[in-house]
Amino acid sequence: MSEAHYPSLRGRVIFVTGGASGIGAEEVTQLAAQGAQVAFVDIAEEPARALAAKLAAAGHPELFFQRCDLTDIAALRGAIAEVGRRFGPITVLVNNAANDQRHKWEEVTPEYWDERLAVNLRHQFFAIQAVAPMMKAAGGGSIVNFGSISWHAGAGGMPAYTTAKAGVEGLTRGMARDLGPDNIRVNCIIPGWIMTERQIRLWLTPEGEENLMRTQCLKQKLVPADVARMVLWLAADDSRMCTSQLWVVDGGRM
Ligand SMILES: NC(=O)c1ccc[n+]([C@@H]2O[C@H](COP(=O)([O-])OP(=O)(O)OC[C@H]3O[C@@H](n4cnc5c(N)ncnc54)[C@H](O)[C@@H]3O)[C@@H](O)[C@H]2O)c1
Repeated sequence: MSEAHYPSLRGRVIFVTGGASGIGAEEVTQLAAQGAQVAFVDIAEEPARALAAKLAAAGHPELFFQRCDLTDIAALRGAIAEVGRRFGPITVLVNNAANDQRHKWEEVTPEYWDERLAVNLRHQFFAIQAVAPMMKAAGGGSIVNFGSISWHAGAGGMPAYTTAKAGVEGLTRGMARDLGPDNIRVNCIIPGWIMTERQIRLWLTPEGEENLMRTQCLKQKLVPADVARMVLWLAADDSRMCTSQLWVVDGGRM
């Protein structure tokens, strides 16, 4: 848990995508601990409901969870509108959800390509489009998109994912320019290799860990809380004049 206290987050309505597990679950937990009014969507219903129940039992403000497949833009728009009706205008959006499924470039079909871009890029734009009018009416807001170190580090084996994550950076810079006049900030966090349950289960090997320790300046593994702490700061008024930037949380690897 962050040792920092951000008074500006108290009561703030925050929408997190992919908040049921991994880094997203830590973001939901830490934002709730700051007294924010957190709403999140995910396809994984069971861990999401368990997280919401755990945080409610700990005495945090009522959380909103709705099952939503982010490839379904109508469902995403519906969830955002429902949060606005229930809690008031969303003034922080955390575009966290993604899926780094590996794929061989020779086997990618047009359908698979479109589906991967829909999971990893398209919803970030449409969530921004849906929350921006609420933020404008409220006098401003903060949007945090999620990129990835993978393509910066020259990773292969998942071209649709790396293309989508490169696109997130362009989306961030372009939308920061368009939304700045309405006092809406748009930033992008670039996580390094973060030891989520999924990363440990699927990809962490002794060789991978050895390579990580060799390439990072800091010789410790990163955990979801390291990224969530950056989300808190970008969501809070402490970062009020920071927009259109890439925030790398990677232990000094990039
Ligand atoms: N963990 C890392 O090492 C790492 C590295 C670079 C970038 N990132 C980025 O950080 C963010 C969080 O990653 P993570 O490691 O916590 O991932 P994760 O797989 O652990 O969690 C992602 C969450 O998003 C949800 N999700 C996936 N597809 C969805 C869909 N179609 N609709 C709704 N929800 C969906 C999943 O159910 C899951 O709860 C992602 O944008 C990821 O690309 C992570």
